[in-house]
Amino acid sequence: MRLVLLGPPGAGKGTQAVVLSERFNIYHISTGDILREEVKEGSPLGLKAKQIMQQGGLVPDEIIIQIVEKAINSKKSTNGFILDGFPRTLAQAEQLDKMLSNSDKNLDLVLDFETSTPVIIERLSGRRICPSCGAGYHVKNIPPKVEGICDNCNSKLSQRDDDRPETIKKRIDLYQKSISSIIDYYKKKGLLKTVSGDLEVDALYKVLIEMFKNNGLT
Ligand code: AP5
Repeated sequence: MRLVLLGPPGAGKGTQAVVLSERFNIYHISTGDILREEVKEGSPLGLKAKQIMQQGGLVPDEIIIQIVEKAINSKKSTNGFILDGFPRTLAQAEQLDKMLSNSDKNLDLVLDFETSTPVIIERLSGRRICPSCGAGYHVKNIPPKVEGICDNCNSKLSQRDDDRPETIKKRIDLYQKSISSIIDYYKKKGLLKTVSGDLEVDALYKVLIEMFKNNGLT
């Protein structure tokens, strides 16, 4: 199965992608996670991306496209993949098609998590992440068993640099400016399905599983 998850920051793409990738044994490719790892390592790519990400901007297409090409051609993608956070520009969407057609592959579905702005703000301001194992939490919706501590590895949870209120606003604005051309692109290809990102985690998961069944993917 090859999927793309679209949606504004905080729509819950990452949360659903983690569970879906386990359920279907497909590679979760999060461009945001890959970039954050590069920043953490202080690699040349990470140094280029750090400031852009902190300010809520978009990392240049050529960097992102290289990252995704490597991921979708890796062994981990043999069974399929979920792209989370890519494409974010029309050029990225077009390049994705080229990469896939070079290896005679195609996308099965593009899921758009439509999410209202108050929900996005509430989710991002309450998001906490584990800097060691990458697990994600929310102070109210998905709290850890012990406040501020990761359930999996006992590390102290932290907030993402780009989850500050002024950066959240910039990320939402940027998303709204760039998304319509991508939505139109996938609509024309007949691949686009819209779901409500406002739903709770389990309810949204059920909707997604039902959708896969209805599209002959499970
Ligand atoms: P990225 O990491 O992709 O960030 P994003 O798209 O802004 O998405 P988020 O991770 O903020 O949200 P999400 O939808 O995954 O929500 P989550 O599940 O975590 O990108 C970061 C940066 O990298 C970009 O700003 C850019 O600079 C750069 N970048 C990345 N890709 C790029 C590209 N293709 N091109 C150029 N630049 C790129 O959930 C959020 C919170 O809500 C969590 O606390 C979670 O626990 C909670 N939650 C989730 N679902 C629910 C639910 N259903 N109900 C209640 N709470 C929920």
